[in-house]
Amino acid sequence: MTIQPTMDAFWMPYSSNKNFKSKPRLLASAKDMHCYDMDGRKLLDATSGLWCSNGGHCREPIVRAIQEQAAVLDFAPTFHLGHPSVFEFSERLATYFPDELNSVFLTNSGSEADDSALKMALAYHKIRGNGGKQLLVGRERGYHGVGFGGMSVGGIVKNRLWFGNQMLRVDHLPHTHNPQKNGFSRGIPEHGGESYADALQQIIALHDASTIAAVIVEPVSGSAGVLPPPQGYLKRLREICSANDILLIYDEVITAFGRLGKKTAAEYFGVTPDMITFAKGVTSGCAPLGGVLVRDDIRQTFIDAAQEKEIDFFHGYTYSGHPLSVAAGRGALNLYEEEGLMERIDSEGLSAYFEEAIHSLRDCPNVKDIRNIGFMGAVELESIPGKVGDRAFNIFERCFHEKDIMMRVTGDTLAFSPPLIAEKSHLDEIFDKTREALRDYQ
Ligand SMILES: Cc1ncc(COP(=O)(O)O)c(C=O)c1O
Repeated sequence: MTIQPTMDAFWMPYSSNKNFKSKPRLLASAKDMHCYDMDGRKLLDATSGLWCSNGGHCREPIVRAIQEQAAVLDFAPTFHLGHPSVFEFSERLATYFPDELNSVFLTNSGSEADDSALKMALAYHKIRGNGGKQLLVGRERGYHGVGFGGMSVGGIVKNRLWFGNQMLRVDHLPHTHNPQKNGFSRGIPEHGGESYADALQQIIALHDASTIAAVIVEPVSGSAGVLPPPQGYLKRLREICSANDILLIYDEVITAFGRLGKKTAAEYFGVTPDMITFAKGVTSGCAPLGGVLVRDDIRQTFIDAAQEKEIDFFHGYTYSGHPLSVAAGRGALNLYEEEGLMERIDSEGLSAYFEEAIHSLRDCPNVKDIRNIGFMGAVELESIPGKVGDRAFNIFERCFHEKDIMMRVTGDTLAFSPPLIAEKSHLDEIFDKTREALRDYQ
């Protein structure tokens, strides 16, 4: 038995420290679809780490790119200085996003990407003489990271409750989940799309378009339990935003880089926003990197407004475009392209297989709803009265310790987002063992 480290000092993020430290779940190494614990036990990764290891673990092109870069240029500032690879990488990254979005702003995380996009939206209107446009609109059950901006537009109550609730002027659209009409939906739900989007008209009627800077939504809510948007929803939001000079921001921290079988959700849904935030899959989880893809004319507005030697956007991070993160991103894009990972879940029938497999759990005990799109899926369970979250957490824990499966849990929902290299046999194993767990641990 391997000796475990002492665990007093590290305050684990977004965790029950009490629960973890009483029976730790430590990962010592990883390769492809699997992680290994301290005793070498092999666990199947059904959740791409934390929605990020899209290319699987410890893949050679990414490992090599990071190692080589570390030996050549460890750091270069990007404030008034630069290094070639960040410019080359940004050009290449832009080709993954819709044609209109070619300007790339880099951050270290999804939270920073979201806060950066919100700041851009506020400043953009101000530069154009519309300084009254200061209100930001998010959506109930939305997750946009943990910065004060992202938290304020976010719509998950526990993420806001302790922290002053909201720091900015914000309002929220209703969430789009309607289990009565769209329960057990496969892919895009049928009902309610335009009417949920029309709620933006009410927000405009209440505050006036002259005060609203931007709307930010996840095209598919991830952290709130995989909520695909109903038919027509994003198109209608786009129309209302365009008609009112309101910027539309997609938070694609989870959905970009192949999660839906396309490069982005914008491509999947055929609706282009004004900005897209990304993180996670851009390096396949191998180094911290995030950013914002911005419409060219939005960036140009900032550049045109600045004097020759003046800073055009008063915002940035020491590690924006860090050479090691950029190398990891370059390695990830190489891997995605070499193995066709942005397309394979559709071209090889894997997303359809995933859909069948997850919906086969419908008759298991306590299953309340099942939803899926691309390689994202959720199994929502009936809560134990007075103990919301306990049932799903028990399944998560037991699956880790007894069934060798790593999944994600959020409230009473089990979430699945396997790496894009998964084979049908991996999907069988994930859902067969989850079925056993749902039956065994009621
Ligand atoms: C949609 C979305 N936005 C933002 C974030 C925050 O990203 P990070 O944890 O890298 O700050 C996440 C993280 O899960 C996310 O799912």
